[in-house]
Amino acid sequence: MTAYLAGFANHFATQAIPGALPVGRNSPQRVPFGLYAEQLSGTAFTAPRAENRRSWLYRLRPAANHPAFTPYDGAPHLKSAPFDAAPPSPNRLRWDPLPLPPPGAPVDWLDGLVSYGGTGNVAEQSGVGIHLYAASLDMTRAFFCADGELLIVPQQGRLAIDTELGRIDLAPLQVALIPRGVRFRVALPDGEARGYVLENYGALLRLPELGPIGANGLANPRDFETPVAWFEDVDEPIELVQKFGGGLWTTTLDHSPFDVVAWHGNLAPWRYDLARFNTMGTVSFDHPDPSILTVLTSPSDTPGIANCDFVIFPPRWMVAEGTFRPPWFHRNAMSEFMGLIEGSYDAKEGGFSPGGASLHNQMNGHGPDQASYEKAVAADLKPHRIDGTMAFMFETRHVVRPTRWASTSPTMQLDYDAVWTGFAKAQLP
Ligand SMILES: [Fe+2]
Repeated sequence: MTAYLAGFANHFATQAIPGALPVGRNSPQRVPFGLYAEQLSGTAFTAPRAENRRSWLYRLRPAANHPAFTPYDGAPHLKSAPFDAAPPSPNRLRWDPLPLPPPGAPVDWLDGLVSYGGTGNVAEQSGVGIHLYAASLDMTRAFFCADGELLIVPQQGRLAIDTELGRIDLAPLQVALIPRGVRFRVALPDGEARGYVLENYGALLRLPELGPIGANGLANPRDFETPVAWFEDVDEPIELVQKFGGGLWTTTLDHSPFDVVAWHGNLAPWRYDLARFNTMGTVSFDHPDPSILTVLTSPSDTPGIANCDFVIFPPRWMVAEGTFRPPWFHRNAMSEFMGLIEGSYDAKEGGFSPGGASLHNQMNGHGPDQASYEKAVAADLKPHRIDGTMAFMFETRHVVRPTRWASTSPTMQLDYDAVWTGFAKAQLP
């Protein structure tokens, strides 16, 4: 069992061995036990205090102690911005669940990453990469992403994530964040696993402003759990892979990179249980905009217009009077990539399955399918609880460009447009 520290981006202090954490100095002349002090910064040094993130790590060896990296030829379907291998498509796209690896060809979490699309530019630190993973093998190598922080959204199977700053046990309906640069590896306690990953090249994800909602609600800071310090003292070869500038690189250390004995700071991995999201909604009429369901946001340089939002559609009461309760038809300024962790989504009667995905790019119309529409207009509007479901959305101001894999995958539903056919024409008096 791993112990956790509560809070979002708090200034934590934790040590796996008593006396390992320096007191009163970040970079003392001599660190206890001869540990090496190392700063890991998540923002520029001069970022405003409210934005500034960094941690000090005290470790058995400096992270700099490694041979040169050479190109890595694994993870064949992990792609990076600018996602220009296939043309941007205005079409509504939907995919069946990503298949798990076949029994004879197991792959680990890293090699099992499949990019569906993304936007922006790694070099300009804007946009996102959107990936799914399907894995059946514990990682023995370590990995870090130099291009962005990783938000991991398990759909099937638990993950045991070892990071430089501690260990995270993660299950479907929880999410975890690995900061940019933090080394980690993923084991699969259930033997296989599938889920989604948001690679955020932009400003760090943070809790949204609450405005008139007040001081409480949505995701509460105390529910984010950061692991306590943990390390392993292993002097054996271990491969270390990194994603850097859109490419993958590998090297081999002669020791474990998970050798941080103590650390303090406000840049750290965390996990969050989506069941703790305090869902807001109407108690009178109309379908509110899904921005009230924002868990985390990565702002862009324009106030109120996100580089990316992470939005969930959790179990909740629907009580709106005289209202079409599912999402009405819409064409949005933002682009929406959706996934489903369990159950079904209230604007689709079928075809959108757990482990599947859909992409509705900006200004292209979508909304309820015909079956959902017929059901909603005929519904007896008693209070109704939507249960056993968890859909989510990665929503971005940019066009999401599908990868070549996503554009040609047999999991793509070629008849998706048909869900919006068959609507009877409105009858004027
Ligand atoms: Fe939408």
